[in-house]
Amino acid sequence: MSTNSIDSLLQETRRFPPSAEFAAASVTSPAIYDDAREDRVSFWADQARELLHWHKPFTETLDWSNPPVARWFGDGELNVAYNCLDRHVIAGNGDRVAIHWEGEPGDSRSYTYSELTAEVKRAANAIAALGIGQGDRVAVYMPVIPEAVIAMLAIARLGAVHSVVFGGFSSESLRSRIDDASAKLVITADGGWRKGKVFPLKAAVDGALENGTSTVTNVLVVKRGDNDVEWTEGRDLWWHDELAKADAEHEAQGFEAENPLFVLYTSGTTGKPKGILHTSGGYLTQVASTHRNVFDLHPESDVYWCTADVGWITGHSYVVYGPLANGATQLMYEGTPDTPHQGRWWELIEKYKVSIFYTAPTAIRSFMKLGRQIPQGFDLSSIRVLGSVGEPINPEAWIWYRDVIGSGTAPIVDTWWQTETGGIMISALPGLTTLKPGSAQVPIPGVKIDILGEDGTRVDPPQGGLLVVSEPWPAMLRGIWGDPERFRETYWSRFSKDGNWKYFAGDGAHVDSDGDIVLLGRVDDVMNVSGHRLSTQEIESALVSHHMVAEAAVVGAADEATGQAVVAFVIIKSQQAADHTVDEASALLRTHVAQQIGAIARPRQVFIVSELPKTRSGKIMRRLLQDVAEGREIGDTTTLADTSVMQIISDKMK
Ligand code: WTA
Repeated sequence: MSTNSIDSLLQETRRFPPSAEFAAASVTSPAIYDDAREDRVSFWADQARELLHWHKPFTETLDWSNPPVARWFGDGELNVAYNCLDRHVIAGNGDRVAIHWEGEPGDSRSYTYSELTAEVKRAANAIAALGIGQGDRVAVYMPVIPEAVIAMLAIARLGAVHSVVFGGFSSESLRSRIDDASAKLVITADGGWRKGKVFPLKAAVDGALENGTSTVTNVLVVKRGDNDVEWTEGRDLWWHDELAKADAEHEAQGFEAENPLFVLYTSGTTGKPKGILHTSGGYLTQVASTHRNVFDLHPESDVYWCTADVGWITGHSYVVYGPLANGATQLMYEGTPDTPHQGRWWELIEKYKVSIFYTAPTAIRSFMKLGRQIPQGFDLSSIRVLGSVGEPINPEAWIWYRDVIGSGTAPIVDTWWQTETGGIMISALPGLTTLKPGSAQVPIPGVKIDILGEDGTRVDPPQGGLLVVSEPWPAMLRGIWGDPERFRETYWSRFSKDGNWKYFAGDGAHVDSDGDIVLLGRVDDVMNVSGHRLSTQEIESALVSHHMVAEAAVVGAADEATGQAVVAFVIIKSQQAADHTVDEASALLRTHVAQQIGAIARPRQVFIVSELPKTRSGKIMRRLLQDVAEGREIGDTTTLADTSVMQIISDKMK
């Protein structure tokens, strides 16, 4: 359990109540908790009515008669893209900037709500002309450029389903996601900018489609990198050509609230990533509501920046849908924080006067390491709210974030949620909550969280346990694409009984003496590396797919910078062992994993070993390997088939 140990929490005892000015101007009032407590379901109905436009109003809020699949606002109809675009123009806010976009090389573009609406209408017509309609899946494999958002909204406008694949994933990973969702169309770019270079995306799409068996009939390519691309006539089309041909008018039709909006793949405990399915009305309600309340959004004056890539859930909910549904002005940035210089993010905050900033603890810790003099070289006085997501934020990083980036005054919201929850579930509300570093603190209004022991009974504070969501929530996943059994098994089988359905999140947590929730990290085989979810088994599968490898075991080892790091233990086939030195073999395998899955999965270390610690029944004891990887005294080895194995491994590592 990574950086957020209970010990480190005890060292920081300061508490930060909202200032009187902040509280007075806040969009939330204390009544929000009372309203939600009084009637959770009607609280969400009110949010849905206040924050969204319904083509056909709903009369039924929640149907939980067929658990674990919920129906929210089931008889209502809406168009998600219309909610994010047209209605703001109709309300007279067409001239407000929706997106300020900055490319890594320094080029920039801004879109007002009118301009973004016009682009999405054209794109929707162009995509429809390629045969895409309600329910069809479209894969999106893009850099962080405005066209990624335009593509997602255009797909949503048609009632079709997007499956965004993070641009850092390999061709192999893209292929399995395209196949699993049977996508008909892929929208990509020639390339995107990263660390001063263009990384090719179209080439990876070509690779993913090369066996010719896929369901994809067209590839729509945005010109961004100006790099050379191969072209398959009849299949490949330039985005700008198709949009130029498309009609400028497009009327948004209402779709059922439960119409699927997107599938997003995430790592689980098994090797195969699962396609998390989200639908329209409930999802949009919760992301709009949390985006407004958790960040204290004042859309007429704030400039919001979430640094997530659109390929992750944070990019879906808090770059695309939440902010645009709320009519916010936001910044999007294509590249890395240190290109061309280490102050790039701070320079952007100064340039655009960013007032709400949302990022991951890993990024904060890496800036801490570089020193406060870099951000202090820029004017960050526009910042008034800071957010954190993806992993526990250790109190030291929390304080640094507030002092250095938030001028010592900005409240920090530590937001806990998951791809599966769709929106924020646990977080302070900055106008109401007294903040406590190191704790995500309290469920948002309308969400019910419990911490249970192994036996399913509630644990008494300050004991640790497993985090569950005890009541259905609007943005909850509606299933795993194509695998209803895995959906039940993974999330619902552990604690649901007697008609009481409880969602098991996979995280450990404890409640402290103030009643605040402290997250303690994953309790399953999911690692959290720099706020990205990776599965140990997926990386093991990638390793054994290499011809040199006989067996592999992967653990997530605590890492000061990235939270956890991937550490692999590998047995090389005896006939291959002589061909490479240990260093060569380890370097080759690190690269192999990056090629198979993507650079984020590249192991920090690959240790070549002659045996792995196994129980008599043949189960690999990862716990012991984790001890070694974290440089700890090795735990109990008595259940090992061969108790000397761990001694040999640890001697070797020394
Ligand atoms: C972890 C990211 C502690 C957690 C939005 C969860 C966190 C997983 C926090 C989901 C936080 C996310 N404090 N841990 N504030 N936020 N996590 O699906 O383990 O990429 O289960 O969604 O990240 O990762 P995912």
